[in-house]
Amino acid sequence: MQIAVLKERRPGETRVAATPDTVKKLAGLGCKITVEAGAGAGANISDADFKAAGAAIAADAASAVAGADMVLKVQRPMSADEGTDEVATLKSGSYLMAGLNALTMKPAMQALAKQGVNAFAMELMPRISRAQAMDILSSQSNLAGYKAVIDAAATFGRAMPMMMTAAGTIAPARVLVFGAGVAGLQAIATAKRMGAVVYATDVRYAVKEQVQSLGGKFIVVDEEKMKAAETAGGYAKEMDEDFKRKQAEAVAAEVAKSDIVITTALIPGRKAPTLVSAEMVASMKAGSVIVDLAVESGGNVVGSEKDKVVITANGVTIMGHSNVPARLARDASALYAKNILNFLSLMIEKGTGNLKINFDDELVKGTLVTKDGQVIHLSLAG
Ligand code: NAI
Repeated sequence: MQIAVLKERRPGETRVAATPDTVKKLAGLGCKITVEAGAGAGANISDADFKAAGAAIAADAASAVAGADMVLKVQRPMSADEGTDEVATLKSGSYLMAGLNALTMKPAMQALAKQGVNAFAMELMPRISRAQAMDILSSQSNLAGYKAVIDAAATFGRAMPMMMTAAGTIAPARVLVFGAGVAGLQAIATAKRMGAVVYATDVRYAVKEQVQSLGGKFIVVDEEKMKAAETAGGYAKEMDEDFKRKQAEAVAAEVAKSDIVITTALIPGRKAPTLVSAEMVASMKAGSVIVDLAVESGGNVVGSEKDKVVITANGVTIMGHSNVPARLARDASALYAKNILNFLSLMIEKGTGNLKINFDDELVKGTLVTKDGQVIHLSLAG
């Protein structure tokens, strides 16, 4: 199998879909890898590093994909109306593995199908234990949760841990985390390690023990409704108005007391729920910091703006960085590339290194969005 690794072209994207380590492993399995020149630059991986690992370097995307059976990317290829027509570079009959945002980008999936590209949407990886090592949402959210706390702490004009000094005692910072999924749990763990007092809330009751085991205090809203809030896939359902009102009442006093608020709440395929109202932001002390990790999905915080750091009239900083994993490009690339390697390894024939896909495998069925010119994924049917 010939594999091409393309340079990411979307603004702000610093990650790359392969690392010298994964290139070496793929080469060891009998694959031939071509990396587009400069693909690793944003993650501090040079062309020479890729070459030393066994990859060929291609001057541009077109020569990288020439003859490739499989193209690896981090993000969905851009279309002409986004500025650069990456889709047009892809060859009919080739496979693509990338984070595609397939469920919310149906026209883009149709464009890939029209181009004849067979596309795997890595974000649709089923959440079963066999697929944990291929789950890009987990690997990237984990880093985002960590970075959110680091960003908040760097902006917060006070210390995180309690400090008892000869000159007096400094109280520990209070951190409140909305959404205790992968990013939220890492945010709780990071804030706790930095010495903060940490509170958390979620709609899924199942996370209560996980929060507590990390040393966080869990805010329960409505136990019965929370026990029914989880889908079979482990994700949250959208909650009703009654729950939302009770949740707002339960957290309002805590928000007002918090120094740092990190929001991570998402509902797959929908706009993120609004959890921190303008009144709650107005109730916070000057110098407090909010990080809205859900900003790309519409945001959890009233007043957060994508790719902006907003300072409110009452002195609260609201950080709305999108693509937070790209702010830790090297580690994010290493984990993403490993996710890809683990999935791709299932499709490499032992001995020959040829591409051999088992279309009955639930991981393939769950992620393959387009095939032979058609959009085939069940969630996108109709
Ligand atoms: P996510 O990124 O979709 O959502 C983040 C968090 O926000 C979730 O915990 C969700 O319950 C919460 N949330 C949604 N609406 C909310 C609201 N209105 N108020 C407060 N919180 C709200 O979820 P994520 O982090 O990707 O994973 C969720 C769960 O999936 C994990 O905790 C885990 O149980 C499971 N999982 C399973 C995997 C596997 O078995 N392969 C891999 C990764 C996660």
